[in-house]
Amino acid sequence: MQPCLLTLRLVSRFIRCSRWCAVRRDDQYSRRWSSSGSDKQLSQGIESVASYIKQQASNILVMVGAGMSTPSGIPDFRSPGTGLYDNLQKYDLPYPEAIFDIHYFMMDPRPFFTLAQDLYPGVNYKPNIAHHFLRLLHEEGKLQMVYTQNIDGLERLAGIPEEKLVEAHGSFATASCTLCGRRHDAGRVKKAVVEGDVPVMCEAAKCKGKVKPDIVFFGENLPSVFWDYHLQVPFTDLLLVMGTSLEVYPFAKIADEVGRKTPRVLINLSAVGSFGSRDNDTVLGGDLVQTVEELTKALGWEEKLRALEKNYSLQSGNEE
Ligand code: OAD
Repeated sequence: MQPCLLTLRLVSRFIRCSRWCAVRRDDQYSRRWSSSGSDKQLSQGIESVASYIKQQASNILVMVGAGMSTPSGIPDFRSPGTGLYDNLQKYDLPYPEAIFDIHYFMMDPRPFFTLAQDLYPGVNYKPNIAHHFLRLLHEEGKLQMVYTQNIDGLERLAGIPEEKLVEAHGSFATASCTLCGRRHDAGRVKKAVVEGDVPVMCEAAKCKGKVKPDIVFFGENLPSVFWDYHLQVPFTDLLLVMGTSLEVYPFAKIADEVGRKTPRVLINLSAVGSFGSRDNDTVLGGDLVQTVEELTKALGWEEKLRALEKNYSLQSGNEE
């Protein structure tokens, strides 16, 4: 049973801790890992990651977050100044994460729908080179799974097949009623949201619930597929973490669940999570597009990556 609604914030905090937790970590490890390092250290890191991928890895688990999509033009959440949570003043929210809080949505769905209008996959944004790189890992038979926290659908658009993709925080691909749970036509919901015809109300008899895309809000359970694939995590032979602050649980926990001897590579602007605490950790700091370009070069995969990019542009009619 839900605890009494003392205040929206208290309740959502409680629920977040029991199900889906945003935990701010101290930066004990960022001192040990200068995220940029020297150029020489960085290129040595890239060379050794490339050689491990080529020679040993065949089951790579990739965890991604909003930093993956900033090169596509979508702001991340927590980067000071540019992150979404620093730019929500116009919505007058009690606290930034309320935009993804199921209890707040029930009271006022407008902030979420305004954001969704911009973010709906296939409307404003397209995959960038980092998404195509993940597709290339799959084409090369190296990919075990991509775990994404992103709701922009860019992994799908880049062609990561459904069976290799865990959209841990849900997606816009389906939509349901927040009261009765009835499934609604995702195309109809998309049209309504994109045209600003919101909130979309449930069509079930007597139900007055609001319909929302199946994005996992704070206070909601993660999709079962997130837990199903957990069984595979110990069989990973390389963990690649890209563009995430690793602040949101249970997602972030996966990074600590791979075997103690499994190499872990972080591609991010700054050191995050427990990276740096294990002997086999590598941090490739700086902008991930640049790192991916260099890694691709070290792998000798440049032409293949360009071909994937070109193919995407041709198929989506976005040829430049
Ligand atoms: P955050 O905004 O917390 O973290 C993004 C990370 O990416 C930060 O560490 C940035 O430094 C890094 N970053 C940004 N741009 C980069 C670039 N070009 N190159 C390299 N690194 C870059 O985003 P998430 O970790 O994804 O929930 O946040 C997790 C969850 O919190 C999200 O799923 C979201 C939010 O509440 C929902 O969408 C429901």
